Amino acid sequence: MGSLSKDNREEVIQAWYMDNSDEDQRLPHHRDPKEFVSFEKLDEIGVLSWRLDADNYETDPELKKIREARGYTYTDFCEVCPEKLPNYEEKIKNFFEEHLHTDEEIRYCVAGSGYFDVRDRDEAWIRIWVKKGALIVLPAGIYHRFTLDSDNYIKAMRLFVGEPVWTPYNRPHDHLPARKQYVDAFVQKADVAGQAVDATA
Ligand code: LAC
Ligand code: NI
Repeated sequence: MGSLSKDNREEVIQAWYMDNSDEDQRLPHHRDPKEFVSFEKLDEIGVLSWRLDADNYETDPELKKIREARGYTYTDFCEVCPEKLPNYEEKIKNFFEEHLHTDEEIRYCVAGSGYFDVRDRDEAWIRIWVKKGALIVLPAGIYHRFTLDSDNYIKAMRLFVGEPVWTPYNRPHDHLPARKQYVDAFVQKADVAGQAVDATA
């Protein structure tokens, strides 16, 4: 990061601001002209990402390091397609309801692709396209949603610290401690920093 060389995550993770159209959620929904979002910007709202070797996730030392450093003891796989996901239609609908969790949402795309949409500090939707090899961490308390893209398939490893809790809290759930902590850490802090800059301008 910050170097002139291309960030190798770009091949498997791309983010952009969404348009406001009501068209099919599986379409890219780029603005016109396109407005891409940098990894630095994602970092500012607490979204972390890595590019890993998805063909060798069982032995990948880099994945092992991340799991150890962040305490990700739990893993399973979630395949999103009608044959593999019970109550497919209902799940697809629920995934796309804006919600938050009280813990991180950690997904490692090992096949296929999909869109994680997250709110930026000004409530605009950022669409994050993940493809094979992308590991993404959404912080606890961030409002987000998920959809397949028009290829209609993803296989994701789900990771968690300890016993998994997948409960989605549909918006609004602003009173939850996890939401307050997120706002304090990633929204308010930026406001305060912005004001400090303004005051000295
Ligand atoms: C989840 C994603 C779909 O909560 O946001 O599993
Ligand atoms: Ni979620």
